[in-house]
Amino acid sequence: MTAERNDIQLWLMQVEAPLPALLARWRICLDEQECARADRFYFDVDREIYIAAHWLLRYALSRAAPLAPEAWQFTTERYGKPSIAPALSSLGVTFNLSHTKGLVACAVGHGIEMGVDVERIAPERAELDIAERYFSADEVALMRAAPLAQRTQTFFRFWTLKEALIKATGEGLNRALDSFSFSFNPTAVRFHPDDPTEAARWRFIEDQPTPNHALAMAIRSGPPQTVVSVSRVHIENGEMTILEGTVR
Ligand SMILES: CC(C)(COP(=O)(O)OP(=O)(O)OC[C@H]1O[C@@H](n2cnc3c(N)ncnc32)[C@H](O)[C@@H]1OP(=O)(O)O)[C@@H](O)C(=O)NCCC(=O)NCCS
Repeated sequence: MTAERNDIQLWLMQVEAPLPALLARWRICLDEQECARADRFYFDVDREIYIAAHWLLRYALSRAAPLAPEAWQFTTERYGKPSIAPALSSLGVTFNLSHTKGLVACAVGHGIEMGVDVERIAPERAELDIAERYFSADEVALMRAAPLAQRTQTFFRFWTLKEALIKATGEGLNRALDSFSFSFNPTAVRFHPDDPTEAARWRFIEDQPTPNHALAMAIRSGPPQTVVSVSRVHIENGEMTILEGTVR
């Protein structure tokens, strides 16, 4: 299946202690730079998720454009956002990658500015003092107002949405995290200072792909008919199965 123009393919892969044979199969697709980065991780678990993520990225790109997984080349934008190398830019593919303990997510589209973030839901991180450090005053107020039982979920919704937005723009942490605020029902952003025209260009998708993970995607100015399809790579007994396409 090839991603339709204007559509986004979101790939998800749960990764728990992959077998060495599978890791070796993934690693063979990575370039020299990726292998060198993989080798620098101190903990196996970090190296494994990195290798899994970069294999999934290459696999997902190859499903969207006619190039072998190992043939993709990358460059880095001003604030560190990876993108396709100029030599391959005529393919028009854009992507964003996120990985956290146990899960990799990769979004691929054609010319669409987007960001994706996945986080492991850890109640001990969902504290008000952490929110006060990173979130805007409006977001902190919404967190305080949320019933205690929903505080963790609210925290990780804000966290993943904020990360997805700064990853979509490519600014990363060069953008102040309190320079924009999210609100819910429907999920929307407001910039500070206010810029309703820019805010209206953004669309957000949220999901809880596993009981322990939160996900958000930020998509800028996709045509209204942009469809996000979700595919999962399922791993069992060292074998991978591709489960195609829930449409969001
Ligand atoms: C680097 C950053 C863009 C994302 O970091 P993260 O959420 O920890 O990590 P993710 O797994 O979601 O994303 C990492 C991937 O994003 C991509 N990436 C790196 N810099 C990026 C940028 N400026 N813009 C978009 N994508 C970027 C890379 O593919 C990277 O994977 P790689 O290192 O294996 O190549 C940045 O936002 C950051 O450092 N965040 C730290 C978390 C934090 O303090 N958040 C505050 C609470 S909201």
